Amino acid sequence: MGSVLEETLKELEVTQREFWNVARPTGNFLNMLVKMTNAQRVLEIGTSNGYSGLWFLDALKKTGGQLTTIEFYDKRQSIAVENFNKCGFEGLYRPLIGSACDIIKDFDESEKFDFVFIDANKREYVEYYNLLKDHLLPKAIIAADNVNSHREKVQPFLDAIEADPLFQTEILDFPGGLSVSYRLC
Ligand SMILES: C[S@@+](CC[C@H](N)C(=O)[O-])C[C@H]1O[C@@H](n2cnc3c(N)ncnc32)[C@H](O)[C@@H]1O
Repeated sequence: MGSVLEETLKELEVTQREFWNVARPTGNFLNMLVKMTNAQRVLEIGTSNGYSGLWFLDALKKTGGQLTTIEFYDKRQSIAVENFNKCGFEGLYRPLIGSACDIIKDFDESEKFDFVFIDANKREYVEYYNLLKDHLLPKAIIAADNVNSHREKVQPFLDAIEADPLFQTEILDFPGGLSVSYRLC
């Protein structure tokens, strides 16, 4: 990992609570998972200031892939873009601003992802999942943060994906709880 990236991650960890960033172990695990699965097309729902995005971009630089990341607030997305560029990730990401559901609904049918990270409005997780079904490649991963800390709000998502025979799901004991679902075919 480059020193500018490591310094930027450490800087952002100071304001982690303010920007609702994933914990470092979660970021590191997502980075590993992208490398392990050789993911090329990652969709992140909930950019904030780009902390988790930096972990994805570091992995995607190695796999040769690209990050699409959605954020409702343009100011947060601008901070994320600054952070991405500062760490040398120009050209490896596509920042989209707006409501995640509206943006996903507008995706062209050719828009496909092999890795989705859900970390925005907890009550909408189930809707993101339903809207994304037609945009997943075989063997795609869906990871979702805060499934333990916000269990009541995300339960409809967990119920839906655990009942879906296409997916195998496990909840991992990272801070807040991280679900990881694997599309079997
Ligand atoms: C938990 S934070 C994301 C943290 C980020 N993944 C990280 O770890 O660095 C959630 C972000 O999602 C954004 N958000 C919430 N609801 C949204 C929606 N419906 N559409 C797009 N973005 C949304 C919020 O503005 C917030 O910045």
